[in-house]
Amino acid sequence: MADKVEEKTHFICDSNQLVNGGKGIRFMVSRHGEPTPAFVVRFRDQVHAYLNLCAHQAMELDWNEGDFFDRKKEYLICATHGARYYPDSGRCAGGQCAGRQLVKLEIEEQNTQVFLRKSNDIHLIA
Ligand code: FES
Repeated sequence: MADKVEEKTHFICDSNQLVNGGKGIRFMVSRHGEPTPAFVVRFRDQVHAYLNLCAHQAMELDWNEGDFFDRKKEYLICATHGARYYPDSGRCAGGQCAGRQLVKLEIEEQNTQVFLRKSNDIHLIA
């Protein structure tokens, strides 16, 4: 069983490194051959991963590494101009991102570990 998980996925972190509304884990992916920052957070017990690129401008969301949530832990927030995103979908919830959304990555949690699912255009950079 564990072998099948490894064939389809890249290990990102242990589950206990992600707490609801807490710091996110950053990682790098190759997207269409380009190195691109990404992150994973936990929200309402589920893990969610996105490219770390604001939909307003291609800026990383977190000024302080791993700080993706707003103060109330309700939204992901871009530190540059304050765009807010729904943590579970990446859709814009207000601000400079109106009508756009974060690029969501396929992530899964199994056996107390978090994995990025491999896809044709996105791969973890070791
Ligand atoms: S770059 Fe994120 S809100 Fe402007």
